Amino acid sequence: MKKVLVAGASGYIGRYAAQAFKQQGWFVRAFVQGSEKLKRPGPFGKPALDGVADEIVTGDATKPDTLHDIADGIDMAFSSMGLRSSRPGLTYHDVDFLGNINILQEAMRHDVHKFIYVSIFKAAEMIEMQIVKAHEDFVQALKNSGIDYSILRPNAYFSDMIQFQKMAASGVIIWPGDGNLTINPIHGEDMGEICVDAAAPGHQDIDIGGPDIFTYKELFTLAFTSINKQPRIIFIPLWIVQGLHTLIKPLNARIADMLAFAIAVNTIDNAAPRYGKQHMKDFFENYAKKNFSD
Ligand SMILES: NC(=O)c1ccc[n+]([C@@H]2O[C@H](COP(=O)([O-])OP(=O)(O)OC[C@H]3O[C@@H](n4cnc5c(N)ncnc54)[C@H](OP(=O)(O)O)[C@@H]3O)[C@@H](O)[C@H]2O)c1
Repeated sequence: MKKVLVAGASGYIGRYAAQAFKQQGWFVRAFVQGSEKLKRPGPFGKPALDGVADEIVTGDATKPDTLHDIADGIDMAFSSMGLRSSRPGLTYHDVDFLGNINILQEAMRHDVHKFIYVSIFKAAEMIEMQIVKAHEDFVQALKNSGIDYSILRPNAYFSDMIQFQKMAASGVIIWPGDGNLTINPIHGEDMGEICVDAAAPGHQDIDIGGPDIFTYKELFTLAFTSINKQPRIIFIPLWIVQGLHTLIKPLNARIADMLAFAIAVNTIDNAAPRYGKQHMKDFFENYAKKNFSD
């Protein structure tokens, strides 16, 4: 039986990747910071990994001495490990770049055949953002390492769209730009299947989106209608956000990065090649039933 190491296995994509590898007959070693979380389903429908992971190893990717032998006996390494929001004391460089370098080094030490890494769609166009740069610095290191690799580049996940439904529930969505650019987020389960397909030999660099392409305006309207609310969307002219970004950049790198992200998603169209079969409308409606019904 082939063995996969899943780093980031407690996260949105990591859980679905672990589940998909298991369903395809792989032995799954989940690498996590703490094993307790895996016993319970996570938010946004993330599956529990009880009965999915054959083995759980714990450690901190930023601390190489905690990673000893995580890749022992492993054929394939997969990583969706990364920092979701800046934690005090940790940067994207520390976690997304150096943390994944530490995992790669363990993989190479144990002659793992291939490394699959989840980066970001259109990264080259957003490289000034710290999160994107950290991902792409790792991609470069992976490509230079000599190990076989696949790079997955999703544009957005269903789980992230829930923030819009929450804003809709609060009564208003405020958004920079005019809402006419497009995006097609993907469900974690659909992403999981792509992760397993990416294990086939040979270098791959795959741009990924979900099956339904929306303008932001359409997506926000769906967020409102899924909770039976009249849409109320306020668009802030982009030049105001750009001005704020210029002012804040020398003062606060983290807020500047968030504004840079808001600018990027409103100047770069985010429609990616379509994969998967799960629909945003169903996801919003299911989430609404569980979380916003009276
Ligand atoms: N969100 C998007 O729309 C989007 C779009 C494109 C690409 N991506 C990228 O896709 C990847 C996966 O996203 P996701 O939503 O699955 O992220 P996620 O849910 O935040 O999962 C990240 C995982 O990394 C783990 N982790 C963080 N720091 C660690 C450390 N020091 N040592 C070991 N594990 C650590 C987390 O563990 P804990 O649970 O213990 O914290 C968690 O399991 C990320 O690299 C993200 O940047 C995201």
